[in-house]
Amino acid sequence: MREANDMTDGEPRILYLSRSDIAAVGGDHSELYVTALADGLVRHAEGKTVQPLKPYLRASGDHIADRIIAMPAHVGDPGISGLKWIGSKHDNPERAGLERASAVIVLNDPATNYPVALLEGGLISAWRTAAVSALAARHLARTGFTDLALVGCGVIGSTQVIALLEQFEHIETVHLYDVCAEAATVLAERITDGVKAVVADSAEAAVRAGDVVVPCTVTDSPYIHFDWLKPGSLLCNVSIMDVHKDVFLGADKVVVDDWEQSNREKKIINQLVLDGSFSRERLHAELGEILAGSRPGRENDDEIIVLNPMGMAVEDIACAAEVYRRALDQRGGTWLNLY
Ligand SMILES: NC(=O)c1ccc[n+]([C@@H]2O[C@H](COP(=O)([O-])OP(=O)(O)OC[C@H]3O[C@@H](n4cnc5c(N)ncnc54)[C@H](O)[C@@H]3O)[C@@H](O)[C@H]2O)c1
Repeated sequence: MREANDMTDGEPRILYLSRSDIAAVGGDHSELYVTALADGLVRHAEGKTVQPLKPYLRASGDHIADRIIAMPAHVGDPGISGLKWIGSKHDNPERAGLERASAVIVLNDPATNYPVALLEGGLISAWRTAAVSALAARHLARTGFTDLALVGCGVIGSTQVIALLEQFEHIETVHLYDVCAEAATVLAERITDGVKAVVADSAEAAVRAGDVVVPCTVTDSPYIHFDWLKPGSLLCNVSIMDVHKDVFLGADKVVVDDWEQSNREKKIINQLVLDGSFSRERLHAELGEILAGSRPGRENDDEIIVLNPMGMAVEDIACAAEVYRRALDQRGGTWLNLY
């Protein structure tokens, strides 16, 4: 992957891509991410990726969202390697006026294992997470679904809505709920082009209205019950801890991005496995298997399907590699000498 222009006089250099450089090559829309992930997730399902389990560094704060996570992966052949290093403090928005999460992504050339690029990672992280939901909705939502429900209207939730609206022109209504009413109102004002935005007065009201339901909160207390879900709905469980155990036990199909990553860290699936009520055998599929066609997606209009997307380094590295390729083509970014 090392390109002729990432050496000067035999000295290595790296391409630095800021958030605005990434946006300039299409990194603030869903197309780039959906394209990169459709390939990356299939490679993962075919065993053509390397992805060690991600370590969580918890040094300060006892909130579930106070941590820094190291997410390494290798994608493709010879492909590219890389690491997302993503920090989070739940109270960054109110205390510091900053986004909750911040990240950098390093890409490495597998021929030398030298770093070749350093990218701002927050934008890529938000959009790749939204692209996972979009790809899941292609295969697991009811064809022609009209109602999208979002609980938690922060950075991740807003990006989910914008990406799903870009990918599915048949969405008619978006139901929004946030404990901070202003967050839902601000997002509602961004929803235009004839799509109706309804600010719900409870999470339950929003979820009950959704054909596709996406929780994007920072809670560690489950509140979504199985009987809130409509027949035929798809729940993309982006913030992982929002659903009660009965959602996994009642759903017709449970899909994950990666079983090993989902069954750890006392997340809900892991709790169910530990108490003996869920197992790898009860899992319907990993998402990449559905994209590859080796497992079926939705099979009728009544199934209730849950996607549990823990978030994978493979997704970040596949998307960052596509951003890097486009930036090289379009001569974006800033070269930095490594020595
Ligand atoms: N699965 C993945 O791949 C993946 C990737 C990135 C982020 N995430 C998760 O997405 C979540 C959201 O991240 P963010 O950056 O948007 O955070 P954020 O702080 O910007 O937004 C969270 C929003 O949720 C609201 N909220 C909190 N608790 C709530 C509750 N119980 N009910 C309703 N609303 C509630 C907050 O008011 C806030 O507006 C985090 O939990 C993060 O870990 C998942």
